[in-house]
Amino acid sequence: MNVREAVRRSVEPACPAYPGHALTPADSGVPFGHVGTAAHPSGARTSTRSTSAGLSIEVNGVRQTIAADPSTSLLTVLRNDLGLNGPKYGCGLGQCGACTVLVDGIAARACVIPAGGVRGRRITTLEGLGTRAHPHLVQQAFIDEQAAQCGYCLNGMIMSTAALLERTPEPDDGQIRAALSANLCRCGTHVEILRAVHRAAALMRAGREPDGHAPTPTRRATALAADEA
Ligand code: FES
Ligand code: FES
Repeated sequence: MNVREAVRRSVEPACPAYPGHALTPADSGVPFGHVGTAAHPSGARTSTRSTSAGLSIEVNGVRQTIAADPSTSLLTVLRNDLGLNGPKYGCGLGQCGACTVLVDGIAARACVIPAGGVRGRRITTLEGLGTRAHPHLVQQAFIDEQAAQCGYCLNGMIMSTAALLERTPEPDDGQIRAALSANLCRCGTHVEILRAVHRAAALMRAGREPDGHAPTPTRRATALAADEA
């Protein structure tokens, strides 16, 4: 057994996106993010161009082939190669959550996942969640609650919230706090963020449209009225 395999086997539970990486459970063992390990080539912060065959990954429903080394971090590939700036570079160490994306619907830290580890997986970034004209319900809820000051943490907050509400449609305060506990906000907008998650949950319970986008204003108002009743 080589060193890489030994380290891989020592890491539990295995990351669904990249078996050699650890997962940090936020609540009830639900995988929330990733922690770099010795086997985790997260050091690359700039895309290393490869002369070999391109790296093929699926991002926001589109298959892309990129001339990047497989050990390049997913965050670098998303931002530098694909121009997707929704995921933010914060700590680069898997600890702040600013870079959060969804890997097969699971919130994951793009800064510590090598791009080569997500072949065959569905990557969703903030750009794939909704648009300015047609926001996702979670995005709409964060706008409604004005849950930001500088906004740097919001990509991670929104992506983590989207993942939470997929598995827990009606979370209580404790579940929300647990799910977002590894997303850091230095501005202290936690109260507004908590309200935004509850609002997003109410909107989604009231009738999600097939594409996950915001319902009509009337439908939204009805949902919120019912939730507050
Ligand atoms: S930048 Fe990825 S967790 Fe901080
Ligand atoms: S709003 Fe500034 S870090 Fe959260």
